[in-house]
Amino acid sequence: MLDAKVAELLNVQVNKEFYSAYLYLDFSNYYTEQGLEGFANWYKVQAQEERDHAMLFLQYLQNNGCKVTLEAIDKPDKVFSSFADPLHAGYEHEQHVTELIHTIYEAAHNVKDFRTMQFLDWFVKEQGEEETNAEGLIKKFDLFGSDARALYMLDSELAARVYSAPSLVLS
Ligand code: FEO
Repeated sequence: MLDAKVAELLNVQVNKEFYSAYLYLDFSNYYTEQGLEGFANWYKVQAQEERDHAMLFLQYLQNNGCKVTLEAIDKPDKVFSSFADPLHAGYEHEQHVTELIHTIYEAAHNVKDFRTMQFLDWFVKEQGEEETNAEGLIKKFDLFGSDARALYMLDSELAARVYSAPSLVLS
């Protein structure tokens, strides 16, 4: 059995990751409404990845004999006034999720829960990549977003993103 505090934080993270999926699906819906199907696709794939993250936390808890409690998922409530707004909100959200992962890691470290630390190593690396990706989208938009032709090209680039299952597989 896991330490109660560690298990609680892992359970909360199941909800946080499902919320991330919901949030990015909301971004995707916004871009669909705006006619930017590539941006919509990019965030729809991102939502699928976040669902996978939630399922990994859920599976890890169950693999360790812990009960999983599913709480209500918050409603995404961001209001966007420009195409760039979701990109900034996404970057800020990933920074927040990184903090959450680090908090769980710290709790596991405090009770010498090396197994959970090893499980979380994948997420620590993943968060680095997700922050880089989110920041990269902002940089690209800053460079190309104000030119209609360049924006069309960027949207086409983002339309090519395809979903792939996470590299972390729990037995
Ligand atoms: Fe599950 Fe975007 O972190």
